[in-house]
Amino acid sequence: MRISEMTPDVIYIVGARPNFIKLAPLIKSIKGEVDFKIVHTGQHYDYEMNELFFRELDLPDPDYHLGVGSGSHGYQTGEMLIRIERVLEGERPKLVIVLGDTNTTLAGALAAVKLKIDVGHVEAGVRSRERFMPEEINRVLVDHMSSLLFAPTQRAVANLQSEGIRENIFLVGDVMFDSFLIYHDIAKRYYNIMEELGLKPKDYLLLTVHRAENTDSKERLSNILEAVSGSPWEVIFPAHPRTIAAMKRFSLIERIERAGNVRIIKPLGYLEMLVLEENAKKILTDSGGVQKEAYFLRVPCITLRERTEWMETVEEGWNVLVGADKSRISDAIVNFDGSERYNQYIFGNGGASDRITSIIKDFLRFKD
Ligand code: UD1
Ligand code: UDP
Repeated sequence: MRISEMTPDVIYIVGARPNFIKLAPLIKSIKGEVDFKIVHTGQHYDYEMNELFFRELDLPDPDYHLGVGSGSHGYQTGEMLIRIERVLEGERPKLVIVLGDTNTTLAGALAAVKLKIDVGHVEAGVRSRERFMPEEINRVLVDHMSSLLFAPTQRAVANLQSEGIRENIFLVGDVMFDSFLIYHDIAKRYYNIMEELGLKPKDYLLLTVHRAENTDSKERLSNILEAVSGSPWEVIFPAHPRTIAAMKRFSLIERIERAGNVRIIKPLGYLEMLVLEENAKKILTDSGGVQKEAYFLRVPCITLRERTEWMETVEEGWNVLVGADKSRISDAIVNFDGSERYNQYIFGNGGASDRITSIIKDFLRFKD
């Protein structure tokens, strides 16, 4: 770790895959406008969960890499808190920006407010109303610590207001929609992933599963995998390391191999992922971000959870909640086809990052 000479106005704190994808359009927008630095907590560290994104999304190298790595929630968040505090004490930025709902987001916000540094939260107000979901706790706490709340949707604004937050809420749109619009065309260059995997458009299902509620329960994970094994289409499964570990622990890998219909591959880069999402017949997922991308691409999404923070996609008819129920999953695989509707403005117009940058600039002028 190094403390540098120049004090930045803004520090972005990231550490996990979805943080990097949200960071990319923000950096494109702020570069050359405001002095900033990037702190990487090291929450994700495998090449496919980390460096691949910095390369593909052309992100600058982090100014600090804190190397925290994996562990229990308490250990991980606590170590991050200690190490981020050290950086912030040295750097004393005017504003810290955190993104989404990971443990990195929580630790970054908490370290900053304890040092009386203002926090801006990108993706504020998102709620699934599941109090025992780690990400929901992180979101609620971070929103209540933040000075600038960058809400992606009208519903997110209403959620914040219903919790008594009235000021400094900015409806900016969703930075993941910005990322999508920026990288969707570039992703076409990665189309050879289809040939590499021997896939034909609309002839396979794409599966991602990594949520604690699904990976920590043998019953839920087995149900999901059994249901997809019986699908009429092949299932491409870029598996999160947490899920691989759970499948090994529960001896599910051999069962999947025997069924022969599910192809487990390494986690993909964002650009390859967009190609596979766009060409999938349907997507099955418990990811937050993937549900939105399925909507942007108008691919039917079967969500392996009981609730979602992105109800807009369900209301528009492109997403169905099936939990980890074998028969509901199997039924949706065959019968859920999405809808005719599509509201291109639910997640903004692709200008969320520029709006956030402009609000940050106003904030900094006010601080001087
Ligand atoms: C975290 C986020 C989740 C997000 C997900 C994105 C929290 C509470 N959760 O969950 O919201 O959807 O990232 O991918 O922050 N591991 C590796 N290599 C890595 C990273 C993780 O092997 O590079 C394994 C470790 O065994 C680790 C486990 O995956 O214990 C879980 O990683 P962790 O970062 O704690 O949570 P995620 O499940 O990735
Ligand atoms: N993603 C990816 N490669 C993968 C799986 C997901 O690039 O193998 C991308 C996905 O396209 C989306 C983001 O990761 O942009 C979502 O992150 P994740 O599912 O890890 O977390 P969540 O959104 O659930 O917090």
